[in-house]
Amino acid sequence: MKEFYMQRAIELANKGTGFVNPDPLAGAVILRENRIIGEGCHRAYGLDAAEIEALKDAAFQASGAELFMNLDPFLPGGDVHVVSETIIRSGIKKVYIGMESPDIDKSREGIGRLKEAGVEVETGVLAEQCKELNEIYAQYITTGLPFVFTKWAMTLDGKLAARSGDSKWISSEESLKFVHLLRQRVAAIMVGENTVRQDDPLLTTRLEGVRISNPLRVILSKYGDISPEAKVLKVDDMTKTLIAASENIPGDREKMLLSKGVEIIKFKEQKGRIEFKEIVKALGKRKIDSLYIEGGSEVLASAFESGVVNKVYAAVAPKIIGGRDAVTPVGGKGIEKMRDAIVLKKVSHEIVGGDVIFKGYL
Ligand SMILES: NC(=O)c1ccc[n+]([C@@H]2O[C@H](COP(=O)([O-])OP(=O)(O)OC[C@H]3O[C@@H](n4cnc5c(N)ncnc54)[C@H](OP(=O)(O)O)[C@@H]3O)[C@@H](O)[C@H]2O)c1
Repeated sequence: MKEFYMQRAIELANKGTGFVNPDPLAGAVILRENRIIGEGCHRAYGLDAAEIEALKDAAFQASGAELFMNLDPFLPGGDVHVVSETIIRSGIKKVYIGMESPDIDKSREGIGRLKEAGVEVETGVLAEQCKELNEIYAQYITTGLPFVFTKWAMTLDGKLAARSGDSKWISSEESLKFVHLLRQRVAAIMVGENTVRQDDPLLTTRLEGVRISNPLRVILSKYGDISPEAKVLKVDDMTKTLIAASENIPGDREKMLLSKGVEIIKFKEQKGRIEFKEIVKALGKRKIDSLYIEGGSEVLASAFESGVVNKVYAAVAPKIIGGRDAVTPVGGKGIEKMRDAIVLKKVSHEIVGGDVIFKGYL
């Protein structure tokens, strides 16, 4: 039964997707005599903690009730004591926690204070699901680096695009929705300049019936060789673009890009390459807690070579297109021996609209 209410806390936490970064996703449910009397979530960065919202929802009639939270007491940007003390004052008798915060000191403080005050605490309810829910937060709070996802769609014969470069669309409509869910979840999305030239993508989030959050669009383009008409150069308050360029970007291109309202970060160039880790570090410094690398083949190769990727999603569509020159998901030089392959861990898959979406961790 406790799993059922923790599942509800996870559902509530998900309402903050795209709006809480770099805070964690948090949901809370208050139960008394088998009836939910209060629910809450952390709706957006800087707003109330989920527990506080749930207690308000219960009109502070929570004395003797049980509280389910996917994460231990958490106060956005502040002192966990405020949350723990509010829980204690409310008279909650037992707290179920899904995941203990990776910020160990804060976690001990929060849970320790509850126990000290005589509140019963049980941790680890739906722990795996709760950890996956906040894998972005866990990585960012402990390393200051964004959690890096990759996701690509490939044909059954292992191609990212047809030999002409056309890749619209490899996967089913249902799998495309998965892309937009991921875009909603992350703080930034990256593609290479060839993908901009070939596909002219918008890289925005398109989902129906929910508040939309567009990730920061990061374009890897050494010398800014992007058409002034490219859709990614159309920026507004909701939709921003950053170009990761070389320090050797020609002045006229830099000027053109800046005139479009995009931001440029210049990186050292070594043997024609920018060190991918430096890009990821620079994003982390800007409070970007998550990056989704959508492609293409060369950018993905660079990301894997530099070891920054944390999680892979790969949609495999039951289509065969052939073409020895058609790009594959991960280009670059590649390895020589199978023993050097990157082997994913915790691999799982689901079937979405006829495609198989693989998921795994590095
Ligand atoms: N099916 C899908 O899910 C999917 C998703 C996205 C794109 N695509 C397809 O992928 C194709 C494009 O892929 P692509 O491999 O040709 O191009 P790409 O990866 O989009 O862009 C390659 C560009 O990134 C640069 N680059 C990569 N790593 C770099 C580094 N470390 N430092 C500096 N520059 C770096 C390359 O520079 P250099 O020239 O110096 O190497 C090149 O200019 C298109 O056909 C597109 O439709 C498919």
